[in-house]
Amino acid sequence: MLSKPLHPATPTDGPRHVALIMDGNGRWAEARGLPRAMGHREGVQALKRTVEAAPALGINCLTVFGFSTENWSRPADEVSDLMGLVRTYVASDLKRLEREGVKVRILGRRPGLPADIVAIIERAEAQTAHNEKFTLQVAFNYGGRADIVDAAQRHVDRVLAGEATGPLDEKTLEAGLSTAGAPPVDVIVRTSGEQRLSNFLLWEAAYAELVYQNVLWPDYGHDALADVVEQYRNRDRRFGGRATPGAAPALAAV
Ligand code: FPP
Repeated sequence: MLSKPLHPATPTDGPRHVALIMDGNGRWAEARGLPRAMGHREGVQALKRTVEAAPALGINCLTVFGFSTENWSRPADEVSDLMGLVRTYVASDLKRLEREGVKVRILGRRPGLPADIVAIIERAEAQTAHNEKFTLQVAFNYGGRADIVDAAQRHVDRVLAGEATGPLDEKTLEAGLSTAGAPPVDVIVRTSGEQRLSNFLLWEAAYAELVYQNVLWPDYGHDALADVVEQYRNRDRRFGGRATPGAAPALAAV
């Protein structure tokens, strides 16, 4: 049987949409004897480097996990540091993101967030809504299960209001997710060596490739993202179908 060729990478090979679980900020800081907050701050720098590197690698959408619905269980000072990062990131980068054609979308539940964070989020989305070149989605107060529940509830509300009928189907549910309108997620990356999804993009993960990297998030940037692209281009995406035309039958069919 012929092995899959390691074809030369071109931007058209994808991935187009890369999702990142930015893990390891705390360990990065602890290894240096620094407070965890410093790790998160360096994490913002890594995010900036990664967004800058993405377009030249053929990526036009990045989704990053900034704060999960479970992160509220962290000590209050760390929660407050993480909230502060949104203020810092948007204050320092919104103008540049807007100028460079980046559409910013914030995924996740708004109720429960401090009012000034909601205002910042709404401003970032409104100021960049017209941009088309690149999309940056930041999952903040986000949980994959909560997002699916919210999408289902939206459908229930529409049925009760007489605006929709019939049973819920995949297309309808997908249209109610906070990622609706974004391109399909091609690959989900987790840094720091941990290997789990932690409630990130559960619906969208159905056929995404998974890549685990040993780099701690504050050390992330162009080279690590280029490594994701290379790994992705050497995967055989089958979406439940057969390997390649003319290839040996799948084990299940033997
Ligand atoms: C996980 O590391 C990281 C987070 C919970 C926060 C991620 C946030 C950033 C990278 C900053 C940029 C985000 C925004 C919203 C602008 P951890 O603290 O769990 O690390 P550990 O597993 O080593 O303890």
